[in-house]
Amino acid sequence: MTYTSSTQEVPEHGAVPRHLAIIMDGNGRWARSRLLPRIAGHRRGLEAVRATVENCAERGIEFLTLFAFSSENWRRPAEEVALLIQLFQSALTSEAERLHRAGVRLKIVGDVRRFGRKIGLLIEQAEKLTAQNRGLTLTIAANYGGRWDILQALSRLLAAGTTHGSIDEAALAAHLAMSYAPEPDLFIRTGGEQRISNFLLWQLAYSELYFSDTLWPDFDAAALDLAIASYRSRERRFGRTSEQVAALADPAKRAEVA
Ligand code: FPP
Repeated sequence: MTYTSSTQEVPEHGAVPRHLAIIMDGNGRWARSRLLPRIAGHRRGLEAVRATVENCAERGIEFLTLFAFSSENWRRPAEEVALLIQLFQSALTSEAERLHRAGVRLKIVGDVRRFGRKIGLLIEQAEKLTAQNRGLTLTIAANYGGRWDILQALSRLLAAGTTHGSIDEAALAAHLAMSYAPEPDLFIRTGGEQRISNFLLWQLAYSELYFSDTLWPDFDAAALDLAIASYRSRERRFGRTSEQVAALADPAKRAEVA
């Protein structure tokens, strides 16, 4: 299944976002405020991931995408990087069955070769195990960067023999790592910072942005519902005027605008 691009066609606006993308920030501060090592914050972060997967599935969200490790996170102290990779590896082992039982389809996007062969195999197994599931699609972005994604899509296009004159949005989007998903309707960043940090640069073109001061380990169902309520209150115009958007909601006038 392919999805249309927000710059080419206006997508449907549902009561809950169809695709939610999250930058899970604030694990370190959560730990520091409790005089705990940073990794304790990441462990609690993983618990918040479990809860968020359930909460999203219950609310009818179809795609949840989480930024677990950016291509720039290698700049962190070597010990923290090693512990984060360990946590990722043990989560892949311990969570795959649980996700499968819950009907979740798991996808990992990013340049995962850098994590080594063992993690590569675990990713393959977990994706294969859950590939036919029809519930929530959970994507974990690991060693992912939005610029990396655009460049790898372009490289693959050129390798397939596409000439520069025939590259358009649809051709490029079809080669992005998440070509299986619609563009995010809602983007959330926790932890008080207001940045995109090289996440889904191409796909966030028309996403609604929501920034929460809640630290990721504290991000619970109530915090998710606040974000969804904010999303519902937004007027998504996709370049149109407010009057056009109002006309679209009126069956008598819809045909004039659509
Ligand atoms: C940002 O908080 C968080 C990360 C870089 C790692 C995210 C990892 C998890 C939530 C746990 C593992 C998840 C999976 C899916 C295996 P930060 O360390 O930048 O926090 P700070 O800004 O307070 O220092």
